[in-house]
Amino acid sequence: MPSKPAILIARKVFPDIVDHLRAHFEVEMNDTDDVYSPAQLIERLQGKVGALTTGSERIDAAVAAACPQLRVVANIAVGFNNFDVPALSAAGVLATNTPDVLTETTADFGFALIMATARRLTESEHFLRAGQWNRWSLDMFAGAEVHGSTLGILGMGRIGQAIARRGALGFGMKVIYHNRSRLDAATEAECRARYVDKATLLREADHLILVLPYSAENHHAIGAAEIAQMKSTATLVNIARGGIVDDAALAQALRERRIAAAGLDVFEGEPKVHPDLLTVPNVVLTPHIASATLQTRRAMAKLAADNVIAYLTEGRPITPLNAEIIGKGARE
Ligand code: 8YV
Repeated sequence: MPSKPAILIARKVFPDIVDHLRAHFEVEMNDTDDVYSPAQLIERLQGKVGALTTGSERIDAAVAAACPQLRVVANIAVGFNNFDVPALSAAGVLATNTPDVLTETTADFGFALIMATARRLTESEHFLRAGQWNRWSLDMFAGAEVHGSTLGILGMGRIGQAIARRGALGFGMKVIYHNRSRLDAATEAECRARYVDKATLLREADHLILVLPYSAENHHAIGAAEIAQMKSTATLVNIARGGIVDDAALAQALRERRIAAAGLDVFEGEPKVHPDLLTVPNVVLTPHIASATLQTRRAMAKLAADNVIAYLTEGRPITPLNAEIIGKGARE
């Protein structure tokens, strides 16, 4: 019997997903949560036709050139800034991501972070745990209203829209958004969201949430100049990607109370966190867990696996990023 083609799973995933892949492929898996170095990754990818990756593995022209048998890389993430998609297309490597399956879970978390930030959840919990609660006062940990306030959304893809619905329908918020391209009227109406320019978004939002993909042009889309345009009572939440916010500028603005508070799930250079952010009290910090429910993480891993299987067995990936290469330059 001819041996099955070989694939690599670059990070530990659920055992039944590995079994699912083993029905089709010889599977090599990184059985730890340690990230391969670029050299280790290239070494492990030798002879592999496919790979499941996460945001931590950079897959670019150099990897494609060093791994000539590699035909498909499936990211277990909706974001794919770890892929150089044009370079992969040029090399004939198909790339896939995991949209849709994490939309609602990630929107839930975005809203949780808005609530925690506005209502000073972690700051007050630290105070209590530190034994500092010995009396009550009317303005103790008074935060900002969420219901009825203005929610600003920067980046209005699927997750941004799901957050808009939560704000408008659940919390009676006025929702404004800015996006590279404006949504069609029916989608705007369904999300109860009004398109504004970026300056208006910054100026009018009581709570601003970032849900845009990372790209070189979005690097530090929110820095000192943008924060200066926000209300001094406003909050800022980033569930998108590190690097979209200038973390050093944000820490300084928080310390100087130029905005009220921030909630961050993603960081520049994570898992390292800018040391200044660790010492300001008015910031809620979480370790990139917006999509982290077991159901959703399983669905993401399953979709990535199914993409590899569907492409390598039938040539039809489910959620491709560069489908245009199929039959026109894709490696065979
Ligand atoms: C992932 C994410 O868990 O999907 C994304 O883009 O940021 C998260 O849901 C993370 O990127 C791991 O790959």
